[in-house]
Amino acid sequence: MNVIRVKDYESLSLEAAKIVGELLKTKPKSHLGLATGSSPIGLYQNLIKMFKNNEISFKHVKTYNLDEYCGLPKEHKESYYSFMHRNLFDHVDISEKNIHLPSSEGKNLEKNCKTYNRLLHKANIDLQVLGIGSNGHIGFNEPGTSFEQETFIVKLTEKTRQDNKRFFNSIEEVPAYSITMGIKNIMQAKQILMLISGASKQSAVKQLLSGNISEDFPASVLHKHENVTIIIDDAAYGDL
Ligand code: GLP
Repeated sequence: MNVIRVKDYESLSLEAAKIVGELLKTKPKSHLGLATGSSPIGLYQNLIKMFKNNEISFKHVKTYNLDEYCGLPKEHKESYYSFMHRNLFDHVDISEKNIHLPSSEGKNLEKNCKTYNRLLHKANIDLQVLGIGSNGHIGFNEPGTSFEQETFIVKLTEKTRQDNKRFFNSIEEVPAYSITMGIKNIMQAKQILMLISGASKQSAVKQLLSGNISEDFPASVLHKHENVTIIIDDAAYGDL
């Protein structure tokens, strides 16, 4: 596990963009696993800048997102489909057919899980971007999820719903369920890039860097992966 400490969110976003940008330069047909949340927004902004400067292109890139809320139409501004278009896809030359997110539409969500999981089995993701929940969740794999879990429907914990409340008008509006890649799917990426910023992540950083591996703290599974880079800013590091 390669840990890079940086001073703030801006440096974290630049450092992350160097890694992803380098990959896109050396392998223009890369398959990227992407994440939502506040952590990767700066990375996406830097990638958009690099695209506008003709340093990188998304023309041959395929993307696979970690997760999507259940019960929100795609068009809702807080759906992860909308988030990704607003923060990245609408500003680069990616083709809509190369964009993949799990679908929470329709009545048969189990079938949607199987469909996305089949896609992931063929995806060969070169680099997976990850944030971390304050309770250690990755994607929406909440504490207690088996490391062998593949794409599934998860009931979100109250902690996660409270953490994500800031994007909605009230807690009642925060979806209770989500469809997410499982931990096993995430671990199949060739490389993992985790971004951790802000004081609210201090205890998660402490637990992650302690090296203990437990299903009670999903991100700890990353210790079993051979190519992980974690970028952490000073605020998230705290007094560690
Ligand atoms: C959500 C997402 C995760 C993300 C987490 C942390 O729950 N499903 O993929 O890592 O939030 O978000 P943030 O980066 O906003 O702290």
